[in-house]
Amino acid sequence: MTLDERGGRIERLLDLLREDDTDKFEGVVPFGPQEFTDPGIAAREREMIFGRVPSIVAHSAEIARPGAFLTLQMPRNKVIVVRQRDGGVKAFVNACRHRGALLEDQPSGQCRIFSCGYHRWSYDTDGSLRTVTYDHTFGEVDKSASGLIELPAEERHGFIWLVDNAAATIDVGSWLGPEMDTILASYSLDTLLTYQAEGFDEPVNWKVMQDAFLDGYHIKYAHPNTAGKIIHTNVLAVEDYGAHARFLSPRKSIDRFLEEDHGDADLGRHVTESHFLGPNSTLLRQPDHYQLLTFRPHPTDPGRSRMEMRVMVPDVEASGLDEAVWERRWAKNWQILLDVLHAEDFPLLRASQEALGSADAGGMLLGRNEVINQIFHRQVRALTADR
Ligand code: FES
Ligand SMILES: [Fe+2]
Repeated sequence: MTLDERGGRIERLLDLLREDDTDKFEGVVPFGPQEFTDPGIAAREREMIFGRVPSIVAHSAEIARPGAFLTLQMPRNKVIVVRQRDGGVKAFVNACRHRGALLEDQPSGQCRIFSCGYHRWSYDTDGSLRTVTYDHTFGEVDKSASGLIELPAEERHGFIWLVDNAAATIDVGSWLGPEMDTILASYSLDTLLTYQAEGFDEPVNWKVMQDAFLDGYHIKYAHPNTAGKIIHTNVLAVEDYGAHARFLSPRKSIDRFLEEDHGDADLGRHVTESHFLGPNSTLLRQPDHYQLLTFRPHPTDPGRSRMEMRVMVPDVEASGLDEAVWERRWAKNWQILLDVLHAEDFPLLRASQEALGSADAGGMLLGRNEVINQIFHRQVRALTADR
C-alpha cells in the first residue's frame, strides 16, 4: 500500500471527524435475538459458513518446522494442522481411523508421526496410515484407504486457512477477492513472528463476540478509561469489498490536525487500520505490529464460542531492539490486551448473551453507523440463505 493511497483515506477520515459523521450503511436493519440462541440457525452456520468458505486457523510462524502441529476445534471437526516435510501445510480430522480415538491430545507440538493412544496405530505427518499394531491378527486393512481424513487447507499471506469440510475445496485468493488479496500481500505477514496466541472459550455466541470487535460505536461507553481515551467513538472510514472490509478509525492524537495543515506528513500513527476478513476474523494493523482476532462457533451449543487472539511482531533482529526491551515491550502490550478483554469486553458480552436468551427479548436493530457489523451480518445472511 502506498503512503499516498492511505493518505487519501486519512483525509476522508478527517473530514468525517470534522463533520461529526461516519461512513454509513444503506439502511437500519432489524434482527432477532434468536439469531444468537437458536440451535437450528447455529447448525446452518456451521455447515453453510464454516463448511464452505476459508477461515484463518493460525499464523504460519506458529508451525514453522516440519512436524510442527497444532490442534483445534472447528465448528464441524476436530482438526490437526501440521507442517509437511516439503514445507507445505496439511490439515486432518483429529480422529483415528481405527475406532475414532482422539489422535492428538496436545494443543501444539512437534512430532515425526501421530501415534494413537488407544491401540497405537500410527500415521505419517502426511496423514498416511503407517502401522497397524498386531497386524498379523487384525486382518486385512487397505492402508491406502485408511489414512487420516484430509481437510482443505492453504497457506497464504502468512496465515493458514481451512475449509472445515472434507468434501470442499479451498481457494483463498478467490475468497479474498482482488482488493483484499492485494492488501494482505502488501503486509508481508509471513516475515513476522507470532509473539503470542491464546484462545478463550466464552459462554457467548460467536457473532455477539465478533460484533463487539467490529464495533466503533461502543468505545467510549464500554471502555471509558482505556480505548475510549485513545480512540474516537463512532467515526469510521470504510471500504466495503463485499465479503471483507477495511476501515480506519481516528485516534484522538489526530485532533490537532483538524485545524492545522499537516502538509505531506504521514498521519498513519494517528489512526487504527482494521480489516474484517470474512467470515470470522479481524486483523488490526498497528504502526509496529499486527493483531488478529478470530471467532468460532462451538460445535453444538449456539451460546458458546471460542475467541483466539494473536499478536504478530518483527523478530528481535528486525525490530532493532535489545532482546530484553523487545520482550518487555510485547509482554506489556499483550497484558494490556488481556486486561481489557477480561475486565471490560467479556463480562459485558456474557451478560448480553444471557439477556438475548430472554423469551421475550424483542426485535433489535443495527444502525447505519454500525457499518462493519452490517457488512458482517449481510455476509452471514447471504451464506446461510436458501440456495
Ligand atoms: S482407536 Fe486409534 S488405534 Fe485404536
Ligand atoms: Fe470492546
